Amino acid sequence: MPRSKPYQPLVLRLLHGVNALLVIGAVITGFLVYDSWDGRFGKLALTKANRDLIDIHGTFGFFIFFIALPIFVIYCFSAGKSRLIQGDTLAKLSEVGKPIWWYTLQRIANTAMLIAGILAVISGKFQDENWLPNGELNHVWYYAHLIAWAIVVFALAIHLLMSVKVGGLPLLLSMFDVKYRPEDSPKLWREKVTNFFRR
Ligand code: HEM
Ligand code: HEM
Repeated sequence: MPRSKPYQPLVLRLLHGVNALLVIGAVITGFLVYDSWDGRFGKLALTKANRDLIDIHGTFGFFIFFIALPIFVIYCFSAGKSRLIQGDTLAKLSEVGKPIWWYTLQRIANTAMLIAGILAVISGKFQDENWLPNGELNHVWYYAHLIAWAIVVFALAIHLLMSVKVGGLPLLLSMFDVKYRPEDSPKLWREKVTNFFRR
């Protein structure tokens, strides 16, 4: 029997895609900032210490903080909430090995990814662009931001592994598919948003 292809709502694909790109961009530029100005916990020395890197990273952070993540969070807690932690999550965790157990783990991984991103942007907002150039490497918020980076990388690994486990490569690819169904057409967005606020 041909297996039906997984389908993701268009709005989810757009919001998720923008967030995934920006967060991965922040992870890479953030690492380069650390690697060039700090490097106390291991170092690849890929780039020379350079203020532009901090600015580029700040720009990624800015867009995630003010635009991409807030809109995605609103989406996830409304239209997308069936893919996040549910009220019965604890009960379902006892059904070890059954499909629902894996779905539950995946929903926990999705939620963890969201929380990791939120931790990174909040701690990011407490950074000062002059700390590293001034050699001030011991600010508590700087350490918090480094830890947030590690949490994002870890959460992303689990998020991808769980998605592959539950739906394989077709599920991963479905998140980046560009085709959409008629009922998902952007022509209907205005109506849907109006209905959302009327509820
Ligand atoms: C090793 C990893 C990282 C390092 C060393 C680092 C370092 C920094 C530094 C020095 C700033 C201040 C730059 C400025 O204010 O213009 C900053 C700001 C910021 N970072 Fe990071 N970062 C890392 C990872 C991340 C990650 C993974 C995210 C998000 C997913 C993130 C989000 C932010 C945000 C939102 C800001 C504030 C930008 C603004 O001014 O609006 N950072 N980071
Ligand atoms: C290349 C990287 C990524 C891939 C391939 C990927 C893949 C996926 C897939 C396949 C799903 C659907 C899972 C399901 O049906 O439950 C999903 C959902 C989700 N992803 Fe990602 N993801 C990536 C990066 C990210 C990043 C960086 C974030 C954090 C900002 C994130 C946050 C989420 C969330 C919160 C959901 C649940 C959405 C909802 O509530 O409807 N993902 N991801």
